Amino acid sequence: MKTFRNENQVRKISIGTCFPTDTILDRSFSEASYDTEAILEICDLKTKVLLKFEMSDADCVYGLGENLRGINKRGYQYESFCSDESKHLPGKTSLYAAHNFFIIHGESNLGVYIDFSGKINYDIGFSCIDEMSILVAGKDFDIYLYEGTLNEIVKQFRQSIGMNYVPPQWAFGYQQSRWSYENADIVREIAKGFETYDIPCDAIYLDIDYMERFKDFTVSDERFPDFRSFVDSMLQKDIKLVPIIDAGVKIEPDYDVYEEGIENDYFCTDIEGNPFVAAVWPGKVHFPDFLNPDARKWFGKKYHFLLDQGIKGFWNDMNEPAIFYSEQRLKETFEWLKAHENTNLDIYSFFEMIEKVNGLSNAVADYKNLYHKVGTQRVNHYEVHNLYGYNMTRAADEGFKQFDENQRVLLLTRASHIGMAKHSGIWTGDNHSWWEHLKLNIQMMPSLNMVGFLYSGADTGGFQDDVSPDLMVRWLQFSLFTPLLRNHSALGTKMQEPWRFEEKIRLQLRDIIRLRYALIPYLYSEFMKASIQFDMLFKPLSFEYTSAEADGVEDQLLVGESLMIAPVYEQNAKGRTVYLPEKMLLWKASAYENINTSQLEEVEAGYHYIKAHLNEILIFIRPGKLLPLVAPMDRVSKLKKNELSVIGYGSGYLKYELYEDDGESFDFKRGEYHLSILEVDHNQVVKSNNSHHSLKNQWIVRA
Ligand code: GLC
Repeated sequence: MKTFRNENQVRKISIGTCFPTDTILDRSFSEASYDTEAILEICDLKTKVLLKFEMSDADCVYGLGENLRGINKRGYQYESFCSDESKHLPGKTSLYAAHNFFIIHGESNLGVYIDFSGKINYDIGFSCIDEMSILVAGKDFDIYLYEGTLNEIVKQFRQSIGMNYVPPQWAFGYQQSRWSYENADIVREIAKGFETYDIPCDAIYLDIDYMERFKDFTVSDERFPDFRSFVDSMLQKDIKLVPIIDAGVKIEPDYDVYEEGIENDYFCTDIEGNPFVAAVWPGKVHFPDFLNPDARKWFGKKYHFLLDQGIKGFWNDMNEPAIFYSEQRLKETFEWLKAHENTNLDIYSFFEMIEKVNGLSNAVADYKNLYHKVGTQRVNHYEVHNLYGYNMTRAADEGFKQFDENQRVLLLTRASHIGMAKHSGIWTGDNHSWWEHLKLNIQMMPSLNMVGFLYSGADTGGFQDDVSPDLMVRWLQFSLFTPLLRNHSALGTKMQEPWRFEEKIRLQLRDIIRLRYALIPYLYSEFMKASIQFDMLFKPLSFEYTSAEADGVEDQLLVGESLMIAPVYEQNAKGRTVYLPEKMLLWKASAYENINTSQLEEVEAGYHYIKAHLNEILIFIRPGKLLPLVAPMDRVSKLKKNELSVIGYGSGYLKYELYEDDGESFDFKRGEYHLSILEVDHNQVVKSNNSHHSLKNQWIVRA
């Protein structure tokens, strides 16, 4: 074990000789002595390492990115092992991602990043109330320790993993998805629906049925004849189509992706070196070996087939990788069933049968039978499991850069690992139309931001099960703020597009989506500033306010510098209790057209019960702050971003720094962006130092 320290006082402890995960970028560390204060104990077990941290009563634990339960992770168990887990019940310990960064926040703060790509188990005060124990299933990894304020720790960590992914600006618009809009006519109908009901929308998703029998990088001629002109006809309306790409490549002679993969040895193998056979949507598939740089390059280039036809965005799916069954496991299960065909199944044999059938999918034993080639080394998949989806997504991103290095492409992925945040955004997987999952969505956003996933959001309205009208409204009222705002639902569930609901609800949904477009100057500006400064868009209150009360808030978030939101996430609630760490201006937002000063009300610091009808969103403007808005349009590209309106609150001089860029290139990385100052002086005059801006409405409340 070696310990290092860099000039920023980040400490690194190396255990073993680390498999290169390419997560931490170029930070140099000089050797230092091991500081036993931070970690209570490091126990060297036979094949694993156990780390122990002590927690005082008041400590909160933040982080772990995409995972279950609250903002404060204390009191439960978690696992880092990317899982195709479709029922996010409270007893689960892992979702689709593995994000091994957390902060112990108390009298002092300690940030910890464990750079390991196999399984890690976290017990955060679950077995022993004041102790956190972490079991790392390997003996070859690095630990990084960060100190400072909460914001400083996140910043240092995020600097070390590189700047997060930035999508094109249109991807801040509303996006409509469904498994599936299975042919071109249905997609046209959906686009028409938005036109008919005058609801803004920038993108429509294509789920697995656009392909020819679920084969990556093919398009069904029957369902989408002349795909290129179809994509073009949608682009004429300024609607982008976003197709899905799955990890498994169908085994089918004469299918080019399969043939090339076999010919060049690009697939993961079994122990004997034969391509590993698993089954997913198309039936039997091979998995590209994304840890092999040549295979990555090859797969990345395949996206050009769709980019060439005018596609501007993708979602990478099933890349944990999800396995329905492996040949071997299916064979064993059938043999068991055959052997028991004529037996009287009692409770134990019946349970055994259920276990066998349920155990077909995503079996750890299958992951242990899968191999990668890394240089000349053969690496067992289980040990590097969490790198798979990461490297599929990296392949896509690198492929896009080869296609056009200065064009931003929308990219979402399901499985993810820490370092992947520089390549893509994420959606949070297959949630349900449950109020509990709306709450989970709220609580997950700051954790995702801590680990660099700023462009993210959940399936709004819920993916599985039928959504009720009030849940749809309340969920959209929260997703209004998430950079990715996508309504997605599963096969067999109630249709969830805004016009599938009765008129009253449809109009409310329309108002919320229009409010989203009104907020885009602010959301985009805050997103970009946070990206450039390695900051967060969504913060728990404790990141800005120091008090035990702020530490305890689990259902309110700061969104950028000007806002605090208090979403309603319980059915039939007519309002909710809100904690105000200081006096703020409440904007009960319902529709852009309704904004007026009578909707704005000062609320004193402390706890309050605040009423919120189904059509009301509780947005608080922080003192001294401004919120720029723009008149909504049906596409992001049509927003008249120079014609701003402003809501503001506070005494004295109010100011907001507005970030703007071209919204489509990477020129911002070379400093090509504008920062304008919007300000309100003592004479109540709102002005911008950018001569292109004209100020429309202003609603300023003086404290
Ligand atoms: C997975 C994805 C989901 C998608 C479905 C069909 O469950 O998470 O979003 O709709 O596969 O492709």
